[in-house]
Amino acid sequence: MDLLDQAADIIIKGKFNIALTGAGISVESGIPDFRSKGGLWTRYDPEEYATIEAFRRYPERVWEMIKEMDELLEKAEPNKAHIGLAELERMGLLHGIITQNVDNLHQKAGSKNVIEYHGTSRTLSCIWCGKRYKKEEKKGEYPPKCECGKILKPDIVFFGEPIPADAMSRSFEMAARADTLLVIGTSAVVAPANTIPSIAKRNGAKVIEINKERTWLTDSITDVFLQGSAGEIVDELVKRIKNKIRAE
Ligand code: APR
Repeated sequence: MDLLDQAADIIIKGKFNIALTGAGISVESGIPDFRSKGGLWTRYDPEEYATIEAFRRYPERVWEMIKEMDELLEKAEPNKAHIGLAELERMGLLHGIITQNVDNLHQKAGSKNVIEYHGTSRTLSCIWCGKRYKKEEKKGEYPPKCECGKILKPDIVFFGEPIPADAMSRSFEMAARADTLLVIGTSAVVAPANTIPSIAKRNGAKVIEINKERTWLTDSITDVFLQGSAGEIVDELVKRIKNKIRAE
């Protein structure tokens, strides 16, 4: 039995399967990840562009990077990996997705139970007066300004900002309850998101990792490592699961 069949059997048997996804799941939708060759952090120093301090000090400059990201997000469509996870949810074989991404592609693909661990790019807030806007209200305005005159910040979690409390608690609960965790397209180097695999593992979950490269999880936490592109692997995994259920 090959690794894909092993993974398919684990998912079919699982009573509470969840997924943790990172930027790698959206690369095939045209959004570069952060740490691979050509990734965002190889072109913008996160210390200069992605900390809340950097945003407070020079928001215009940070918006140069966000504008580039925004233009990619506008054009991006869900790929076979997002679509496959939404299908598993419809089949009752995936109970939730904890995503580190802010690209909204899981929701666009039809996934319902999505926890946005690093916030969302769909809304903007004024860190000075607290007013919140929908992204559409400020479409094409760079940098977008609050009515108080200050520059708005997207509601994505910058380094140095806390994880939204409800995302943190819901993710912890799901990880503690999971008997299968799919970890897809993440280098798992950023805390506290990268504690989720250990929480699930400690509670007896089987961990299936899908990544084009090995990560620190692969030889420590991962039970089944499916190496390659997320789109192809998730698509093939869902096909195997459907064939096995039909054959039952
Ligand atoms: N298929 C599968 N895996 C892929 C693909 C692909 N097509 N493309 C890239 N990957 C893998 C890379 O090998 C890498 O292990 O996805 C992972 C992406 O890792 P990162 O670029 O570090 O992205 P991520 O893990 O999501 O970063 C976490 O860091 O900068 C912060 O807030 C940001 O949410 C982000 C967090």
